[in-house]
Amino acid sequence: ATLTATAVALVMSAGAGFAACDDGEIVIKFAHVTNTDKHPKGIAASLFADRVNEEMNGKACMEVFPNSTLYDDDQVLEAMLQGDVQFAAPSLSKFETFTKQFRIFDLPFMFKNVEAVDAFQASEAGKAMKDSMVRRGLQGLEFWHNGMKQFSANKPLEMPGDASGLKFRVQPSDVLVAQMEALGASAQPMAFSEVYGALQQGVVDGQENTWSNIYGQKFFEVQDGTTETNHGALDYLVVASVDWLDSLDAEVRDQLLTILSEVTAERNAAVGQVDAEARQAILDAGGVIRELTPEQRQAWVDAMKPVWSQFEGDVGVENIEAAQAINA
Ligand code: LMR
Repeated sequence: ATLTATAVALVMSAGAGFAACDDGEIVIKFAHVTNTDKHPKGIAASLFADRVNEEMNGKACMEVFPNSTLYDDDQVLEAMLQGDVQFAAPSLSKFETFTKQFRIFDLPFMFKNVEAVDAFQASEAGKAMKDSMVRRGLQGLEFWHNGMKQFSANKPLEMPGDASGLKFRVQPSDVLVAQMEALGASAQPMAFSEVYGALQQGVVDGQENTWSNIYGQKFFEVQDGTTETNHGALDYLVVASVDWLDSLDAEVRDQLLTILSEVTAERNAAVGQVDAEARQAILDAGGVIRELTPEQRQAWVDAMKPVWSQFEGDVGVENIEAAQAINA
């Protein structure tokens, strides 16, 4: 396969993950923002590309662009609608301008763990959410898991009052802004690629994310410590544009989506292990992790759960009830 000058430049900037495409192959770009190692999304995207490149050789060729090398999450969906990128897996917090249905996943303490998120997504209401943006040109294909979020800051966080007055980076989601306000803190929405620098320079005091993101972006190096709050879920939706999917031959599309569904099953089953490894890697690197007593954790629940009532209209009381039934 020969590389055009543009492709070479992209390879150089993107690093690993590029499969040189042959003439006549459908070129499929998958852009994401995380690292590839010890990361649920990074591992899943690479596996997806490896399988496509092997099993669809001659028909299709997938290139993965990790670490925001092609797009930040706030650009990637528009780029997808323009046909400049074919797959992405933004977190559910990043679809705000397309649908408000995913707000349920951002509500603090709505899901007790990743298994509860998975069970909700497997319900009829959850499955229907994949089609919630079709009118806007985006088809949700598979939910990919990451894990539960933890809080870190430039000072110890033990009780919710410790967060009061601090500024936290959040993903661009109104629920997450309201969550920080419920703690008496302020929220600063910001692209993932900018968070490390913002923490290091003190533009923000803290952040919330999963173990794999805290490890992968080295946030623990520029924070006092991380408190194991497990207060919210961070999950992804693999999306493609309706137009692009429609443009594929049925046989090519079926093979691609079958591979995607098998990769999803395999990697979603392994997220607990990746999460635990990333947590341990933070400790091994000298990062501080604080665990909460049941009483301390309850204080965080009491402080943040009132946020639910602000978003009941967006997410539906029946969905909140369904999520709570799964937790029980
Ligand atoms: C974030 O912006 O913190 C996350 O959505 C990044 C990711 O893709 O896990």
